Amino acid sequence: MNMLEIKDLTKDFGGLRAVDSLDLSIGTGEILGLIGPNGAGKSTVFNCVAGLFPPSSGEITFDGRRINGVKPWNLCKAGLARTFQIVKPFATKSVLFNVMVGAFAVTDNTDEARERAIEVLDFLHLKKRMDMRAGNLTIADRKRLEIARALATGPKLLLLDEVMAGLRPTEVDEVIAIIRELKGRGMTIFVIEHIMRAIMALSDRLVVIQFGRKICEGEPEAVACDENVIKAYLGEDYAAS
Ligand SMILES: Nc1ncnc2c1ncn2[C@@H]1O[C@H](COP(=O)(O)OP(=O)(O)O)[C@@H](O)[C@H]1O
Ligand SMILES: [Mg+2]
Repeated sequence: MNMLEIKDLTKDFGGLRAVDSLDLSIGTGEILGLIGPNGAGKSTVFNCVAGLFPPSSGEITFDGRRINGVKPWNLCKAGLARTFQIVKPFATKSVLFNVMVGAFAVTDNTDEARERAIEVLDFLHLKKRMDMRAGNLTIADRKRLEIARALATGPKLLLLDEVMAGLRPTEVDEVIAIIRELKGRGMTIFVIEHIMRAIMALSDRLVVIQFGRKICEGEPEAVACDENVIKAYLGEDYAAS
């Protein structure tokens, strides 16, 4: 069964069509990469899937259930978690507190939330920073904290929105290793990423969108050679990364 199915999804903001009749699906345990130029509608797709925006039309099915209009916190409890492109931790609170907030989405028990949070921080190599104020973390650690907050909710489907932006190459490699490990544990992952070598290395399949419309879909090697994709997108970015 597919973990996520998007059928004919359209999202309008006033007169602007940000997502236009998009179809895509993600098999259970698969990593699907979503790429496209700035403003193509990638984050809007995530926002519709994660329940932040109601779709203007179309159907979204998660784990066999239609989720149009379901609120983000209920989706989170059902096993759908996301990171935000712009990371916004509770800056004056500790790293541990920030991750516990994620854990509280699925448990009311403080000890259990703490235990879950510490486990996730350990997995992300952030345990040694758990007492630091989140606002004092480096960019790389803040990105990892964003992943930690999502993981603490125990997702089946994880949506990662540009979690590698602004990282150094070695830090990118660390995040790639983390995502691979999550896939190894059976998690299904939907990832938006601008760093081409990372998305190419990670994705089982890629969907490319431009002006909210799908222009190409397939295995990374095939997509990278597609003429439309090179014209729309890869030309400059692929050479630069
Ligand atoms: N909340 C919003 N209100 C109005 N317009 C929006 C909103 N979110 C995104 N947009 C517009 O929708 C288009 C797609 O944006 P976005 O999904 O953020 O693109 P991407 O993530 O691919 O860079 C852009 O033109 C953007 O300005
Ligand atoms: Mg975006």
